Amino acid sequence: MKFILLLLVSITLIASAVGSAPGDTQITIETQHTALVIRVSKDGDPTIIHLGKRLQNGADYALLPDNEKRGEDYTKIYNSAYTPAGGRNLLEPALQVSHADGNPSSDLKYVRHETQHVADDVVLTTVFLKDPQYPFEVKLFYKAYQNEDVIEQWSSIRHTEKKTVRLQKYASANLYIPAQNYYLTHFHGDWAREMNPEEIPLTSGLKVLDTKLGTRTDLFQPPSFLLSLNKPAEEETGEVIAGTLAWSGNYQIQFEVDPLRNLRLIAGINPYASEYMLAPEKEFVTPAFLFTYSTAGKGQASRNLHRWARKHRIPQGEGNRLTLLNNWEATYFDFNEEKLTTLFKDGKKLGVDLFLLDDGWFANKYPRNDDHTGLGDWQENKQKLPHGLGYLVKEAERAGIKFGIWLEPEMVSPKSELYEKHPDWVIKLPNRSEYYFRNQLVLDLSNPKVQEFVYGVVDGILTKNPTLGYIKWDCNAVIYNAFSATNPNPSHLFVEYVQGLYKVMEKLRAKYPTLPLMLCSGGGGRVDYGALKYFTEFWPSDNTDGLERIFIQWNYSYFFPAIATCNHITDWGKQSIKFRTDVAMMGKMGYDIVVSKLDEKELAFSQQALQTYSRVKDIIWKGDLFRLTSPYGNDLASLMYVSEKQDKALWFSYLVGNRYRDGSRAPIKLKGLNPEKKYKIQEVNVYPGTNSPINRTQTIYSGDYLMTVGFNPSVDSRRESVVLEITEN
Ligand code: GLA
Repeated sequence: MKFILLLLVSITLIASAVGSAPGDTQITIETQHTALVIRVSKDGDPTIIHLGKRLQNGADYALLPDNEKRGEDYTKIYNSAYTPAGGRNLLEPALQVSHADGNPSSDLKYVRHETQHVADDVVLTTVFLKDPQYPFEVKLFYKAYQNEDVIEQWSSIRHTEKKTVRLQKYASANLYIPAQNYYLTHFHGDWAREMNPEEIPLTSGLKVLDTKLGTRTDLFQPPSFLLSLNKPAEEETGEVIAGTLAWSGNYQIQFEVDPLRNLRLIAGINPYASEYMLAPEKEFVTPAFLFTYSTAGKGQASRNLHRWARKHRIPQGEGNRLTLLNNWEATYFDFNEEKLTTLFKDGKKLGVDLFLLDDGWFANKYPRNDDHTGLGDWQENKQKLPHGLGYLVKEAERAGIKFGIWLEPEMVSPKSELYEKHPDWVIKLPNRSEYYFRNQLVLDLSNPKVQEFVYGVVDGILTKNPTLGYIKWDCNAVIYNAFSATNPNPSHLFVEYVQGLYKVMEKLRAKYPTLPLMLCSGGGGRVDYGALKYFTEFWPSDNTDGLERIFIQWNYSYFFPAIATCNHITDWGKQSIKFRTDVAMMGKMGYDIVVSKLDEKELAFSQQALQTYSRVKDIIWKGDLFRLTSPYGNDLASLMYVSEKQDKALWFSYLVGNRYRDGSRAPIKLKGLNPEKKYKIQEVNVYPGTNSPINRTQTIYSGDYLMTVGFNPSVDSRRESVVLEITEN
């Protein structure tokens, strides 16, 4: 009896070994350290058999078991690389369609795959799938960025059925991740409270991150997450996936712990109210899902994403940025030419590169004197600016700085000439009362005429003012009463809105490839790598309180690099100007203060800080970020940026707790330096009239010492923030 059992067991083992023997089609998508392996099952289904560390020996992937066979019923496929709905799959699908003949099921069988080197270190793998019963095809794309360990994946759907096919769900990515346990860090927020992390263990069934807000989509939740495998990852240890969807509209990211305790991840456009009618021979291309997998904790994962974003995604990601003085909090809507020209001179005195004129400069019939009127009427307000923008550009240049403006071109005020002329351009329902968010409505960017209008607004201003140096592009409202009066397919509105926005941006970027553009959405209401293909930088939050910003910037930094993160010094918060400046320096620095109200020391400090910034900004913008002490659960927050050559670093430390005498009582171990190199440490941003205890000594340390023993930045209640410059000696 025992023998028979043993025999049965060995036959099963042999059978599974045979099933996975070389000869089966296997598709290996690899970066320097990561591998995603797809195997075509004997039934022709594409299944994910590995997502994780790259194996040293490529032949070993053939030994990986077929996960699908671990279930009792061999017809279950939980690990499909793109799960179709309506057939034998009863878990969350990646694709749900209704064919031209009304059949609500799909099956996707492997046809072939191809691999292309699209750049030196970028390999694109395309997997072609087809429904055996219908002329219906799906392509899965995996772009593997070798050096940065980032995989960008998306899909496309096409058919030649006789009539339209209804796409009900059309995900970008479907991944399968086996581990013992899963810990998801996701983020929630609201206006001025962006990016609050929450880490939860995933339990059986579904957890969904999503938004249905249409525009300003990340107001409550961004499409970015950290997923730790087996146990919660730390900064430098543990297995973790950092993922994000590059889409500025409604998204849905699903985490499903399946009956085998493996994790199914499906990410894409939110199917909510977004059924897409796909005509024969047309192709629907989904947005990209991006992820990086790290075995060395969250720090490595974010450094991978930063490097990828700088090199491959953000315009001028490895280039320059302008420091600026913004007038929003200094004047709000209340300004005129005289006030502004004085502010230009103040900006110059301070030492910034550019003056940014915010909201309130436009509209005449319904002047933009508060946030109830004028959006859509992008002509200079004659009372405030009788000589127009051209005059301001010239005056700013005369004062020695560049000039930029605020725009919110996707929006319309109910009181505006634009609304009066084109009510059918406005997103609203004909038989429901209008409902406003920040007293405004959203234009229907799914309408090509609206796209042309929006493009025309921006292009018109830039054509008239060719030296205009910067645009802050805002988006302050969500979409209520979602309905398009002109779209033949009303359920395309949410999707085609974003596609329309991207078309406008594409056209603008073609004509103005180097113009600095700030992505703003009432703060960080729309921060994603779909928009950051066009924008050079983003505004993380209207909350510029120095203490709050440490937390907000800390959390954005998991996904977005410092060079794209705009940090302004304003009057929010009770901290000293030194504290606020030190915090703003950890990114792209700017000001929104009344310079003339600074006292002598504050002004001297700020001028000096801008000069220091200009010297060290490349380390912050292009260096690697190492988080040393988290502001969560500690009295101190500390992080550093290290240049690629490891010859320079900038180290920021802040007191975030207020317990008696707390601060940096012990040395903090540095990271990312070269153990062999020798370094000197110098405090910068020292406030006039104070002395740095650190600058008194000129000790030279080895990288090894600084990373093993550490160094005490001497942060305490008298020195609440400390910036140290570390230079190879
Ligand atoms: C939004 C932005 C602010 C400012 C105002 C202007 O709230 O986040 O920075 O530009 O709009 O109305």
